[in-house]
Amino acid sequence: MRIACPNCNKEYKIQDEKLPVGKKIAVKCPACKNRIIIDLRSKSDQKKSPQASNPDEKQNTAVSFNKKSLSGMTLKYGILRTLGDLPVMPQIVQKAQEILANPDSDLKELSRLIEIEQAIATRVLKLANSTYYGMSGKVASVQHASVLLGYKTLGELITLAGISGLLGRSLKGYNLNSEELWRHSIAVAIGSRIIASRKDPEFGNEAFFAGLVHDVGKLVLDQHVYQRKDDFEMVMGDGQQTFLNAEKKILGFDHSEIAFELCQKWQIPSNQRVAIRFHHYPSKSKGHELAYILHMADCIAMMNGYGTGNDSMMYEMEEGTLEFLCFQDKDVNAIRSQVLESVEKMLEKMPAA
Ligand SMILES: [Fe+2]
Ligand SMILES: [Fe+2]
Repeated sequence: MRIACPNCNKEYKIQDEKLPVGKKIAVKCPACKNRIIIDLRSKSDQKKSPQASNPDEKQNTAVSFNKKSLSGMTLKYGILRTLGDLPVMPQIVQKAQEILANPDSDLKELSRLIEIEQAIATRVLKLANSTYYGMSGKVASVQHASVLLGYKTLGELITLAGISGLLGRSLKGYNLNSEELWRHSIAVAIGSRIIASRKDPEFGNEAFFAGLVHDVGKLVLDQHVYQRKDDFEMVMGDGQQTFLNAEKKILGFDHSEIAFELCQKWQIPSNQRVAIRFHHYPSKSKGHELAYILHMADCIAMMNGYGTGNDSMMYEMEEGTLEFLCFQDKDVNAIRSQVLESVEKMLEKMPAA
């Protein structure tokens, strides 16, 4: 059984055979010496005699995790062993990214990609006509779009059109409807590009794609979070914990670790993969610039209301992020309004699939 001390949050694993089933016991936290109450009674017994008439006891009751469910490395390896069941990146998106990354490729290769996929072509056309791309209503065909918007932008349109079905899903474990993850992903993609382009305009497309898929780990973890809904509610019940912290406490790892593995399977280049791995704590990335960019864009998306749940306002930008990227507070405000305006323009023609 894994428990967390309610005083110092330190987590411990206690061998199940050492625990007296059906009883309530007290142990001392080895780290802070706080007295921890562990309630091992069944849920129905706990209901019959609600714990802790004494507020002190209530406060010291340990956060314990469902011992029937797997967690930590066992669960992580279990998920990774079934790589074949993980979400598949649409082939068209993979192809478009390959073409964009190859300096010798050209517009013809991209156009050929969508010729056979009518549904994608329709979405590309719709998106090309959004005010975001400045061509409102003027683009009549995909060929026309490629001439007016250029090769890189066409690649981006194919990517967006191809991936919207994957990111536009509802996630019941995370409590997200089908629009929320999509809007958040678009906001982080746009923010990442705006931030990256301030550093180096060439860097914009790479940052856009990494921002778009940065939270794909949630697609994989959703069913496992859902199965442990009670544990998540218990950990997050006091409103003091983010979903990210709860993932760590309950599962033993978070969605960025799973996203990293998934991106490996999708053959996403290492620079983007590492950035996605550290998008919540870029200071651990050993100075990876794109990780800081994704983190800043993620926080800006949440500040703008494009979050992924009720706890969005609790996420804070990691200390040192602005200094690392050589930005000041006034830059955050400017980028924030730029993102807000751009996301609305893009989403008007591109709701989730
Ligand atoms: Fe995330
Ligand atoms: Fe995110």
